[in-house]
Amino acid sequence: MANSLFRTKKIENILAEGSDDSHGGGHGLKRVLTVKDLTFFGIAAIIGAGSFSSLGSAVFNGGPGVVILFIITGIACGFTALCYSEFASRIPVAGSAYTYAYASFGELFAWIIGWALIMEYSIGNIYVAFSWSDYFVSFLDKLGNILHMNLHVPDYFSNSYAEVKHAIDDGSKNEEMLLAWNNAPVFAGIKMIIDIPAIVINLLITYLVFRGVKESRNFSNVMVILKLIVVSIVILVGGYLVFSKGLTFNWTPANDAGVHSFMPNGFGGVMSAVAGVFFAYIGFDAVSVLAEESKNPQRDLPRGMILSLVICTIVYILLSLVLAGAVNYRKFEGVGDPLAFIFEKDNLNVGWMQFLVAICAVVAMTSVLLVFQMGQPRIWMSMSRDGLLPHVFQKIHSKFKTPSFATIMTGVAVGIPILFTDKTFVLDFTSIATLFAFVLVCGGVLLIPRKEKVAGRFNIPYINGKFLFPVIVAGAITILAVWGKGYFASLFHFDFSGNADYVAGKISFMDAATPQVALIIFWIFAIILSIFAYSKNFSLIPLMGLTTCLYLLTGMTKSNWIWFFGWMAIGLIIYFLYGYRKSKLAEVG
Ligand code: ALA
Repeated sequence: MANSLFRTKKIENILAEGSDDSHGGGHGLKRVLTVKDLTFFGIAAIIGAGSFSSLGSAVFNGGPGVVILFIITGIACGFTALCYSEFASRIPVAGSAYTYAYASFGELFAWIIGWALIMEYSIGNIYVAFSWSDYFVSFLDKLGNILHMNLHVPDYFSNSYAEVKHAIDDGSKNEEMLLAWNNAPVFAGIKMIIDIPAIVINLLITYLVFRGVKESRNFSNVMVILKLIVVSIVILVGGYLVFSKGLTFNWTPANDAGVHSFMPNGFGGVMSAVAGVFFAYIGFDAVSVLAEESKNPQRDLPRGMILSLVICTIVYILLSLVLAGAVNYRKFEGVGDPLAFIFEKDNLNVGWMQFLVAICAVVAMTSVLLVFQMGQPRIWMSMSRDGLLPHVFQKIHSKFKTPSFATIMTGVAVGIPILFTDKTFVLDFTSIATLFAFVLVCGGVLLIPRKEKVAGRFNIPYINGKFLFPVIVAGAITILAVWGKGYFASLFHFDFSGNADYVAGKISFMDAATPQVALIIFWIFAIILSIFAYSKNFSLIPLMGLTTCLYLLTGMTKSNWIWFFGWMAIGLIIYFLYGYRKSKLAEVG
């Protein structure tokens, strides 16, 4: 059994199945996408709810120093993108990290990744749909003001039940939440609080994806151009006003103790924003699921991924500097539309920018929804080809050439939880699972054998990590030990009497201890990895990708881990009940 759990799929077989002729009798997906389309897809997936919504709370937690987290996360994603690119150039078929894991780690890990990717693609889209709804409703309000019409969507039809219930249980004074709770119609004893715009946009996107990639691609390209223009205007106008109004002092605000700092809440405050910041980057990897629709996947997928990541990293760094410069970081508490907020009357006071940002946010998030809703069915299609999911998931629509059943199931997977979940939950859940998938992709590149360079294809540069990686780890440990102000001693010091939330009984001992425990495990792992790097001559880039993604995972909370492991346990049960027996490899072996 142990052997069959780690049975791997031969790369030649994956490639043969992925070619147009071998499945569906020539009715495979259409190869229409170029490097420009792929880059646009990347940007379409990356810039969305993370920048338009969760950036506000990230700045509130970390202050201007959140820029550092954007840089660290950008670097982690950059290394990961190179690893994805290596895999994508070797295995240019749909399926993303799932397919790559099948070739390197074997079936069990492939299933685990496929299962984790449901969180990235489907659960992540729930967060985006909620944020889309927030901005859409505020856009209607602004339009109503201009047209002198009442276009307001009632609060109980524009918020999720879970969000409102949590707010009420926590004694929130938020007017919107109170209005939603108090005015909601009651049916069979249940308050009808439903985020209708989030449900409607999910239905529309599902329909569009069902109709076909070409139509969706044109739609997506227009949206990407529009959002890049508007984000650039936000950066230029906001940046100009930060300097012309002399607001640069906001970059070193005072904290509670009156000390001025770029990181008013310390590095811990910056790291607490990790789920939101990482969420903003998710999407570059979605490019890899379009392998079978791209004209020259081995050359273009890596280019598309890396280009879109570089562009978005620059945008994020500038955007967070503008935000943190425009107003004091504390003002971002509870702000869900930070890019519009900085232009409000009490802040930079530019009315037309608020309207422009609201429209752009709706557009940006629509394109994110579109890309992920296209990605999920393609991953399921690959899993179905391998026998790990029922055959119906690989059914291709005869006219539209899209995976029809899998597309509808994706719509259901996004739509149903919209009724029961809230934003914070889905944001954390998505980020932890995606980081986990990235860790496995980087680890996978370490395991696959090196190959000869082929002209015209992407080759991950091989830099021997034998000495370099241990030196980097030893250097980091030395720097922290010498200049880290008791960094390592504090890791082993489990005294939370200075933690206000712990003292107030809001969080348990384990909640407070989780980041420290995670960091201890991280450093032990880094040392073990250094030993392997030395003995096995591991390549430096995947080593760095693995380490930086693991470091970001240390920012996750206890409840994130519990949900994550719970989800994985359900996945394993399904695998042993179904996939393990139905796998194509089981038939062969
Ligand atoms: N990065 C994507 C977003 O921020 C998921 O919406």
